[in-house]
Amino acid sequence: MQLTFQSVSKTFSHRLGKDAVAALENIDLSIASGEFVAILGPSGCGKSTLLEIVAGLQAPTSGEVLLGGEPVHSPHPRVSVVFQEDSTFPWRTVAENVAFGLEMRGVRKAERDDAVAHAIGLVGLRGFEGHYPHQLSGGMRQRVAIARTLVMNPAVLLMDEPFGALDEQTRFVIGEELLRIWDATRCTIFFVTHSLHEAVQLADRIVVLSARPGRIKNIFENRLSRPRLEAKDPQTYAVLMASLREAIGLTSAAFNPDDPRIKPARAAG
Ligand SMILES: Nc1ncnc2c1ncn2[C@@H]1O[C@H](COP(=O)(O)OP(=O)(O)O)[C@@H](O)[C@H]1O
Ligand SMILES: [Mg+2]
Repeated sequence: MQLTFQSVSKTFSHRLGKDAVAALENIDLSIASGEFVAILGPSGCGKSTLLEIVAGLQAPTSGEVLLGGEPVHSPHPRVSVVFQEDSTFPWRTVAENVAFGLEMRGVRKAERDDAVAHAIGLVGLRGFEGHYPHQLSGGMRQRVAIARTLVMNPAVLLMDEPFGALDEQTRFVIGEELLRIWDATRCTIFFVTHSLHEAVQLADRIVVLSARPGRIKNIFENRLSRPRLEAKDPQTYAVLMASLREAIGLTSAAFNPDDPRIKPARAAG
């Protein structure tokens, strides 16, 4: 399902105070059906707000988001969200967690069981159906969260720093699994992250937002072949990383080695 942003702006006006926060300004972007796009930007630049607007959880102050050509005004049944926080229900087993959305939809048990088994297989949790979240690692719990969205057969998957709480190695492995799932389902993925490496590993297009108010600063095409291991093509990898660093403001100026704040003072005499 195609996802289009038309001059999307968002300002939060505080009820009591006078200081309104301009979170997003004139976001224009078109994401093709089946594309994997990463939204990269510093903390507070409006990434989550943008995602919540797509999810129908927030309304833009001006502009519009279109899903398959239709304006978004409320949560869409073919759009699922995975957040960073562990969102599993501790009192439900893995299979019961994954079945939740289908139960809410009133899907019959036999049909539900098939879909749940399929989704659990996709995220590699076969054999853990009867486990409770506390018996799983953080990475496995995020796999449950992903399975819970996959079971709904989403056309668009919105992910807000879904692996942010995981260690780097687990993050890479689960990222590769996500790519495999994307390959199998061909849903559109809108992936919010502040990790440059994660954006490069996963996305075909990387949209860099500026600091608040979030505006689109650059869009990079990622032509590295998967799996995107730095060692495979160090030069292309390095160029892309350097461009992203520059776009996001992590330039050499920001890390000036002569900066008096980081340079030790020369001993007198
Ligand atoms: N409900 C809200 N009310 C007021 N300000 C908000 C609200 N949600 C987010 N903001 C502000 O909007 C800006 C962008 O927030 P957010 O989208 O969460 O950024 P990011 O996800 O990139 O870290 C921040 O300055 C934040 O404080
Ligand atoms: Mg956020």
